[in-house]
Amino acid sequence: MGSEFILPRTASSNDPLRLAVLISGGGSGLLSLLEHQSASSCAHRTVLVLSDRENAGGLQHGRDSGVKTLSIPLMDITDSLAQRTTHEEEIHRQLIECEIELVVLSGYMRILTPWFVGHWKGRLVNIHPSLLPDFPGAHAHRDVLSAGAKVTGCTVHLVDEGVDSGPILAQQSIPVKPNDDETSLQERVKEVEHSLYPKIIDMLSTGEISL
Ligand code: GRF
Repeated sequence: MGSEFILPRTASSNDPLRLAVLISGGGSGLLSLLEHQSASSCAHRTVLVLSDRENAGGLQHGRDSGVKTLSIPLMDITDSLAQRTTHEEEIHRQLIECEIELVVLSGYMRILTPWFVGHWKGRLVNIHPSLLPDFPGAHAHRDVLSAGAKVTGCTVHLVDEGVDSGPILAQQSIPVKPNDDETSLQERVKEVEHSLYPKIIDMLSTGEISL
């Protein structure tokens, strides 16, 4: 039996929630969140950007915004569980040091261990590029296309101990066009992700979401 979800405190623009954004790639989602935060007086701000990949393009978005930005690659440890746990312990240490209140996964391509999820449950949110529970996993667009689905979209959800399986907070759908390929689908899904994710993070921060 997993632990309960504990949502973040109710914040305000005067006392914003302290966010860490975890990325692995280009960070277009991170950029949209940073832009949202600088354009509006919202109840959250990004104080830490972390990547598991040293060459993640999105790291530059963090640096450009003057946010503390770190890459924490996997350590050279043979035993796979020990490697994952050691990596996550270091991430957890950074989160605590920066007094993080909400961890935002934004294209973070690693599955987190129950140990990490247990520490952050309810304060760990993810966006997935499909309409969950359909097409979980790392190749959602490919799977959508090969299944011949006519509609896809994105899902914002709290992270639990499973893979793309936690409580769904919001979804937005778009049609799959007959000539879509993985690239075009990914681009169009990202467009809706970039408006949906900041909006749901707003709602989480102001206490408008309850379980
Ligand atoms: C997004 O589509 C997200 O849903 C998925 O990975 C992609 C990340 O894109 N998990 P980016 O790195 O934010 O550009």
